[in-house]
Amino acid sequence: MTILGKTIHVSIDLILVSTCLAGLRRNTGLTPKLQTIENITIRDYMTRYLNLGESVYDYSVATCGSSSYFVRK
Ligand SMILES: *[C@@H]1O[C@H](CO)[C@@H](O)[C@H](O)[C@H]1NC(C)=O
Repeated sequence: MTILGKTIHVSIDLILVSTCLAGLRRNTGLTPKLQTIENITIRDYMTRYLNLGESVYDYSVATCGSSSYFVRK
């Protein structure tokens, strides 16, 4: 596998994990405890990472919500 292909693969995996965390948070209110990260820089990046997942999650919900292949139960 090329470096680029690997990078893309890892990125997609990271986004999927982030999206799962967003879904978990929306459904259960559970979210990673970022206060335990002492380094502000890293905590800031983690916050952005989680926000990215939320964006993807919201986008998916909006897309599926307006799709005729999905129905609300
Ligand atoms: C946080 O971690 C980054 C990268 O490891 C480092 O460059 C930075 O100095 C650290 N910041 C603090 C406040 O410890």
